[in-house]
Amino acid sequence: MSTNTTTTSNTGDNKVKKNTFTVIDNRTGKSYEIPINNETLKAIDFRAIKESPEDFGTMLYDPGYYNTAVCKSEITYIDGDRGILEYRGYPIEELAEKSSFLEVAYLLIYGDLPNINQLNLWTTKIMNHTFIHENLIQLMKSFRYDAHPMGMLISSMSAMSTFYPEANPALAGVDIYKNKLLMNKQIFRILGKLPTIAACAYRHRIGRPYNNPTDTLSYTENFLYMLDRLSETSYKPHPTLTRALDKLFIIHADHELNCSTATMRQISSTLVDPYTAVAGSAGALYGPLHGGANEAVLRMLESIGTKDNIPNFLQLVKQKKQRLMGFGHRVYKSYDPRAKILKKVTEEVFELLGKNPLMEIATELERIALSDSYFIDRQLYPNVDFYSGIIYKSMGFPTDMFPVLFSIPRAAGWLAHWVEELQDPDLRIFRPRQIYLGKRGCKYVPLSGRPMPQDTNAVLSSYVSGFDKRRDVSEIDGVNSPVNTQQNLSASVGSPKLTDETKAIPKTASGSKSAINQSIEQSFGEKFSLNN
Ligand SMILES: CC(C)(COP(=O)(O)OP(=O)(O)OC[C@H]1O[C@@H](n2cnc3c(N)ncnc32)[C@H](O)[C@@H]1OP(=O)(O)O)[C@@H](O)C(=O)NCCC(=O)NCCS
Repeated sequence: MSTNTTTTSNTGDNKVKKNTFTVIDNRTGKSYEIPINNETLKAIDFRAIKESPEDFGTMLYDPGYYNTAVCKSEITYIDGDRGILEYRGYPIEELAEKSSFLEVAYLLIYGDLPNINQLNLWTTKIMNHTFIHENLIQLMKSFRYDAHPMGMLISSMSAMSTFYPEANPALAGVDIYKNKLLMNKQIFRILGKLPTIAACAYRHRIGRPYNNPTDTLSYTENFLYMLDRLSETSYKPHPTLTRALDKLFIIHADHELNCSTATMRQISSTLVDPYTAVAGSAGALYGPLHGGANEAVLRMLESIGTKDNIPNFLQLVKQKKQRLMGFGHRVYKSYDPRAKILKKVTEEVFELLGKNPLMEIATELERIALSDSYFIDRQLYPNVDFYSGIIYKSMGFPTDMFPVLFSIPRAAGWLAHWVEELQDPDLRIFRPRQIYLGKRGCKYVPLSGRPMPQDTNAVLSSYVSGFDKRRDVSEIDGVNSPVNTQQNLSASVGSPKLTDETKAIPKTASGSKSAINQSIEQSFGEKFSLNN
């Protein structure tokens, strides 16, 4: 291991300005001079700081990567304190107003806005890749009728890795993406096919036949066409809706190292194929603290129900029994510039389709929260998801399509980071460190000698369905089931009460609350309400 750190004696002479940090280890009295580059210290330089030569060296502890840079990038700039967001140096406000999503995708991936010829070719290439393989369609059709579209999207994207063996470094060689033509081909495929997969997932849910894409419409128009066309030979979505969705796509296209993009870089650092990496990133995006947040905002507003319930709800938030979804951001601490753009889009959509009643609750919630010291002190402001969910809802999208609508544009950002990462000479496989606090040097005890306390199975206790109960007391293939012993029966067959543990079932799960309650009831034979 090489480091740039030099050990010096601490003279306390700070008169000469140097671009370094001096770190004094008070255990040893030694001081270390650590260079600063790009206002950053290299974590590896701290490894040289050790109490004795046999020590591993000092690591930096940073759960959730709060203050750790894992790459250099030229794609997206954010100044969270001033509410600035730029793609490749262009302000997001201007791009949202003047560009199309495909122009912005080109900008993110290739570094600058395309000229007219480049844009035409780029658009043609992507629109020529919108058809998906018949086998993929069959796979999608095999999902349950009520499958969450995000689950379908993630699985379909992952399945796509099996369709293009030449794009898989595990099969075709680890260096294949030194070939830019091959890289471009996967970019066209992913950006082209993602809206088609998303539209199929939607049509599956509503029980309509999947629509083939058409290249006579723009990228966003074609997506709306695939969602909504019935049997018409010509169907053109309303331009206000197309433009609103295109703006939403633009502002969601990248956001530097958000959780799903960091996931893209993490997975891609193994040199896996981009389909698997995009599927993994979409998985990260689906979480309610990230891309699932707008879905969670909608469910939150619906559960608040009326403006009168807002003070009570905010009280629960302050008691940390609830989270105010759509508020707060890891980076933005004054305001989220995307939320400002969306407020305007909301008005345009309302003018065409009418005001969504949830908007009144949202506006009042925002007003009260923004004047409350709890939220002011913690710098909690509405983020992009506070409004995007309301727009999507007003445009008639079902709530579980929200993360899908986020994944389509974010794929452009993921791919931009994939390209930049694979071309980065500093690229190394992501492999963070941990602070091990567990046991060491345990003495192995053979099975027969291990203790058998009274609550021996508590660690494996789980919900037991009626089906399980009948099987657990039965003899299977001539032997008792492992749970069918006197000791185990008392632990598992006496159906666990659906109390505290069940409350952990997320309220953002697919389907309505009553549907989830019903399915719990069917599975476990007990009444339970998520409102408990
Ligand atoms: C986005 C988010 C995950 C960022 O989290 P973070 O940077 O780790 O922020 P922290 O968890 O350190 O929060 C700091 C404080 O604000 C509180 N806080 C943060 N977001 C909050 C929210 N949405 N509602 C209520 N309290 C919140 C935390 O409880 C914490 O309070 P404390 O100091 O009393 O412990 C978080 O703000 C959040 O969960 N927001 C809601 C989900 C959402 O809208 N996500 C979409 C982001 S675009």
